[in-house]
Amino acid sequence: MTPYETVFQRRSVRKYDMTPLDADTLDKLEVFVAAARNIDGQKLRFKFVPAAAVGDNRAPHYILAYGNSSAEYINAGFVLQQTDLYLQSVGLGSLWLGAAKPSDVNEKDDFCIMLAFGKTDVPLRTSANDFKRLPISDISETENKIAEAVRLAPSAVNFQPWKLRFEKGKIFVDYVGRGGVLKLVLKKKIQRVDIGIAAAIAVAAAEEEGKTVSSVKAVGDAKTFGVEISV
Ligand SMILES: Cc1cc2nc3c(=O)[nH]c(=O)nc-3n(C[C@H](O)[C@H](O)[C@H](O)COP(=O)(O)O)c2cc1C
Repeated sequence: MTPYETVFQRRSVRKYDMTPLDADTLDKLEVFVAAARNIDGQKLRFKFVPAAAVGDNRAPHYILAYGNSSAEYINAGFVLQQTDLYLQSVGLGSLWLGAAKPSDVNEKDDFCIMLAFGKTDVPLRTSANDFKRLPISDISETENKIAEAVRLAPSAVNFQPWKLRFEKGKIFVDYVGRGGVLKLVLKKKIQRVDIGIAAAIAVAAAEEEGKTVSSVKAVGDAKTFGVEISV
């Protein structure tokens, strides 16, 4: 299964076999993350750790992403969403965790987000109908294949805080802050991770359509932010 096909079947996996993965699988994953596309001008800082390092016992492994700028948070979402799709395409489970923290308190300020992963017997979804998501008209100005894929992107509390805009040679993923007052419980970094996640899926869908993605830029300021994709 390709990463693009995985978009239509992935799910958040919350039940794992706690047996650690073999060294070969972990090495391949580390190579994948190191080689994944980043937002222009960014490079993901990440670490693979076991459950003990995050004080969580849900999964045998975790990838911790670090950052302390808006672009780094967006990039963490962008790179780790490619990783989430890779993991589920090779038969493993994965889960974004915005609520968990690393055990090392010295990492408090620099830590951004983590992705849990491991073996699971929880099956993939069988079709796009199994997803609970907003209608396509709410998340995109235009209904097309890219919007169909981005509609299924995961997001914190399933708020889906993005809207797509299309211009000649450009796809914009804009943050539109859904979730009413509840969205205030989400940290600024998590909102930006969500935008990076949607952008990763937009890039996969554009490439699936045969487009060459020449740049992926984090744009905006403290309040208005998003990703500009050139195709
Ligand atoms: C940035 C981010 C943070 C998340 N944090 C948590 C979390 O702390 N705990 C949890 O159980 N799920 C978490 N999720 C999973 C979402 O609840 C899930 O992606 C959403 O409900 C859609 O479901 P699906 O991934 O199965 O399609 C998070 C997802 C994202 C993208």
